[in-house]
Amino acid sequence: MSAIVIDKLVKEYKNGFRALDGLSLKVNSSEIFSLLGPNGAGKSSLINILTTLYKPTSGNVTMLGKDLCKDPGWVRTQIACVAQNVSIDEHLSLMENMIFQSRLYKVDSDIAKKRINTLIDSFGLSQYLKYPVASYSGGVKRRLDIAMNMISMPKVLFLDEPTVGMDITSRRAMWEVMQKIRDDFKTTIFLTTHYLEEADELSDTICIMKEGCELAQGTPRSLRQYTKQNILRIGFSDIEKAKNCAAIIAKTHILPSMTIRECSIFADTEDNQRTFQNVNKWLLEKDIYFKSIEIVQPSLEDIFLKLTGSEGR
Ligand SMILES: Nc1ncnc2c1ncn2[C@@H]1O[C@H](COP(=O)(O)OP(=O)(O)O)[C@@H](O)[C@H]1O
Ligand SMILES: [Mg+2]
Repeated sequence: MSAIVIDKLVKEYKNGFRALDGLSLKVNSSEIFSLLGPNGAGKSSLINILTTLYKPTSGNVTMLGKDLCKDPGWVRTQIACVAQNVSIDEHLSLMENMIFQSRLYKVDSDIAKKRINTLIDSFGLSQYLKYPVASYSGGVKRRLDIAMNMISMPKVLFLDEPTVGMDITSRRAMWEVMQKIRDDFKTTIFLTTHYLEEADELSDTICIMKEGCELAQGTPRSLRQYTKQNILRIGFSDIEKAKNCAAIIAKTHILPSMTIRECSIFADTEDNQRTFQNVNKWLLEKDIYFKSIEIVQPSLEDIFLKLTGSEGR
């Protein structure tokens, strides 16, 4: 079942700017959905509409089977949103913050007690109970923020760039928390991120957007195959050797376009087998010393650059 269905959504601001320009996408129930796009793509505009803060100019959104614009009050009881600035009260203890939140959402106090204990346990927060909240690291504060937003047991949890500015250890801890939420509580998670490897490792589905429009949607795996094009990689012992070789290749017609990174030449191939054989033969004939030659699948980054760059749409 789909948790969210968005159909030809348009958001035009008062100054006439179109932040969303006919966007369509689908979010499945109980999945981690990542919205990936460069700055200004319209990610926050979309989250603001989905959390009923803004009204769309046109188009339809169905959330949990109901029309978002007809039933915004009901939708609000089913969702929670973790904004970019942490919303915990540093003058209260961890437990007081959780209890305060449960009262705000009018959760019955016996149910709240059980949920709070489960959440503290699930999110690995029990070791922090005896310390003041003000002393927590950014990562732990954010984890507490998410735990607080789970007290109402939302069906859909929205997270705007939940790991921005975190070190890799805190980010990994956060990924585990999100996967736990999905697996233990069957919550649908809708998040925005600009970290490609995060979307890749964490999400069930990724939507890449640009200028208010979706460019591609699918599993990380299916997006990799999106270009239907593999890449030829020629590896060298250092980047200078790669550059020298690329300069010689550029004078021939054997590879139409090349990029150089990580001591390797990368080139799109039309016909894997033939290109591989031609280039391999040419390198041997010219007596060029290389370490490896192989056909590789494009990375998510290759696809992201392809879609959001000048070749987009
Ligand atoms: N209230 C507003 N009025 C006019 N333009 C806006 C408003 N909010 C955002 N925008 C513009 O809409 C575009 C998309 O913004 P936003 O949704 O914040 O993108 P993202 O979150 O992907 O960076 C940007 O060009 C931004 O300047
Ligand atoms: Mg934003």
